[in-house]
Amino acid sequence: MSPAPFQLAPLDAAHDRAAFNSDSEPLNRYLREQVTQDVRRRVTACFVALADENRIAGYYTLASASLMLADLPASIGKKLPRYPTVPTVRMGRLSVDQAFKGQGLGGALLADALDRAARSEIAAYALIVDAKDDTAAAFYRHHDFIALPESPHTLFLPLATLQPSRKAPL
Ligand SMILES: CC(C)(COP(=O)(O)OP(=O)(O)OC[C@H]1O[C@@H](n2cnc3c(N)ncnc32)[C@H](O)[C@@H]1OP(=O)(O)O)[C@@H](O)C(=O)NCCC(=O)NCCS
Repeated sequence: MSPAPFQLAPLDAAHDRAAFNSDSEPLNRYLREQVTQDVRRRVTACFVALADENRIAGYYTLASASLMLADLPASIGKKLPRYPTVPTVRMGRLSVDQAFKGQGLGGALLADALDRAARSEIAAYALIVDAKDDTAAAFYRHHDFIALPESPHTLFLPLATLQPSRKAPL
């Protein structure tokens, strides 16, 4: 099925956060009650896919983060500088409204997050995610993310490996 024509934008006060209804109540509650405060304090950035002017079909959050070098697979870690930590961008949350699931929107939001992280002038080695369960981890593995050996629900994708074809198709 081809995706509906969503617009991607930074979250704005005019967007209808209250109507967002994914199958994860914590992710709905975060958008409803917490995210604007986090954005105001600069501890996260939030981007939304809009189905019309104000209707949020999906959202994700991004913030700076780091990974312990020792937590990466040894074959990857040995190619990086010997600093204790590696700079990354964390996609803290990703969620699609139930009405828009299975239409390619989750993949498009992920591609947009990767593109945004890769385009930043501030260097980051990888986009990292904390999958909330095995199903979410499978979604990220499907998109070529690599699990940390000792923490399979934390996954990363090196930004230098991105192909131009990964660019968000919206
Ligand atoms: C996970 C989630 C974001 C996926 O969004 P979606 O819009 O339904 O997914 P898409 O239609 O974009 O799927 C894109 C691709 O991922 C695949 N996919 C989707 N869910 C998958 C899963 N759990 N495991 C493996 N592959 C999966 C699809 O088959 C599709 O593959 P294709 O591009 O090869 O055809 C959505 O189901 C969701 O909001 N879940 C609840 C919150 C959540 O789990 N967030 C994840 C981070 S904690």
